[in-house]
Amino acid sequence: MTAVELELRRVYGAYPTGVTAVAGLVDGRPVGIAASSFVPVSLNPPLVSVCVAHTSSTWPSLRGLRRIGISVLGAHQEEVGRRLGARGGDRFAGVAWRSTADGSVLIEGAAAWFDCTIEQEVRSGDHDIVVFRVRDLDASADIAPLVFHASAFRRLRETCRTDGAQRAARIRRR
Ligand SMILES: Cc1cc2nc3c(=O)[nH]c(=O)nc-3n(C[C@H](O)[C@H](O)[C@H](O)COP(=O)(O)O)c2cc1C
Repeated sequence: MTAVELELRRVYGAYPTGVTAVAGLVDGRPVGIAASSFVPVSLNPPLVSVCVAHTSSTWPSLRGLRRIGISVLGAHQEEVGRRLGARGGDRFAGVAWRSTADGSVLIEGAAAWFDCTIEQEVRSGDHDIVVFRVRDLDASADIAPLVFHASAFRRLRETCRTDGAQRAARIRRR
């Protein structure tokens, strides 16, 4: 990686994101990658996107699938994010997952999931912007998301509103 690319990666990393698992069944086995580039795109039609590097050796086997699952990892799933984001190794070893009848692979206990088909792939620099059409989805309000920021996995703290309310209560008590 060049010095400019390293600098871009550092500054891009200042933008906090969640972490998703993009996965499907290939010959009956789960195949997938971690992706922090997930973005909800459109409500009508329902579209979401993920940017996939041209260097990905896994994407070519995922892109031909009928369905692909996108799971938003929970705060307790840092190890899943690490495994799915590592190069090589058995990514799904020790990971609880399930597949749908159409072949999407979803991570058990995720904060949210989307069952998708590929709508469009747009070549964009050294990545492809992959636009997915959402066929089914759900979210668990009680599962906090995993956060990726400055190249590290993190968790959300209580909201600022709560912090503010606590500060206000302290001031009132004085
Ligand atoms: C937290 C995290 C987020 C990642 N986000 C992306 C991403 O948005 N797009 C991408 O192409 N690779 C991303 N990766 C890298 C992939 O998960 C994977 O390591 C890469 O595709 C190389 O593996 P492969 O050759 O099997 O595809 C991420 C890795 C980690 C750890």
